[in-house]
Amino acid sequence: PDIGHRYTYEVLVETVDFIKSRVPFEPVVGIICGSGLGKNQIRHKNASDILYLFSEIDPFTGSLAECLTSPIEISYTTIPNFPQSTVKGHAGSLVFGHLSGLPTVCMKGRFHYYEGYPLWKCCMPVRVMKLLGVTHLIITNAAGGLNPKFKVGDIMFVNDHINIMGFAGNNPLQGPNDERFGPRFPPMNQAYNRTIINLAKKVAKEIGLADRVHEGVYTCLGGPNFETVAELNMLKMLGADAVGMSTVHEVITANHCNMTVFAFSLITNECVVHYETEDEPSHEEVMDVGKQREDSLKQLVTELLKEVFHL
Ligand code: 6GU
Repeated sequence: PDIGHRYTYEVLVETVDFIKSRVPFEPVVGIICGSGLGKNQIRHKNASDILYLFSEIDPFTGSLAECLTSPIEISYTTIPNFPQSTVKGHAGSLVFGHLSGLPTVCMKGRFHYYEGYPLWKCCMPVRVMKLLGVTHLIITNAAGGLNPKFKVGDIMFVNDHINIMGFAGNNPLQGPNDERFGPRFPPMNQAYNRTIINLAKKVAKEIGLADRVHEGVYTCLGGPNFETVAELNMLKMLGADAVGMSTVHEVITANHCNMTVFAFSLITNECVVHYETEDEPSHEEVMDVGKQREDSLKQLVTELLKEVFHL
């Protein structure tokens, strides 16, 4: 592949120095979430209707950024070397603050492959977080449920992934490897911290979410189109429980530089795997579930952090 321009370690240090000059503490927790623009979606009248929820318009996970106390918000447009969104009004920001007393940085809005950023650019903020001092990365996404047990509004703790884009020869770690981040050939068999998944299940039980949480395998496609029925059936057969358009490459980049990763999906729709299916999950239904889940999810994350850090 043409690897194009890469961010060198030195370029990222420049970015980190800028951020450090604005933020009087070092985050240990990083969160990647949607940008929280999800109040006024356009309803498309087709079977994939509710898929509006995925990606940058995620009313649900974006709200996690609102949980940070005494927030300091830095727009991506002002951060040196940060990927810049070409779409007006879609610029996100880094929000710094405290969550459960822990210094935290939250990415409000992520970079997606389908927007035209190469994977190494999509994942640049992960390395910035690493250099800022983040040890624990929480990644959220909205995903389609392939596992028939999953209902709209359920939460899936990601216990593994299938890197479909990687199969096709696309990977954020392609190109020269800088050992200061990690090894040339990083293992990926323990990409999702098992202890945290178990703690998350415990916390979910405590807050009354036990019957709405699952764990499973996430897979990412490049998008922007949603999958055909044949593609969804194939993904199911491969062992995927949920499908989306993010996260996998971020997890790879985070594991490469030895960060501890916890990821979960909000199931926004049940994937249509039969040609005859007429059900159309409704926009309203999903918005309701999303809204209902918002508080639980905030609670899940704040309580989970207390457990992980023994607070
Ligand atoms: Cl069905 N597919 C993909 N690729 N991403 C999604 C989705 C489906 N539903 C939410 N996000």
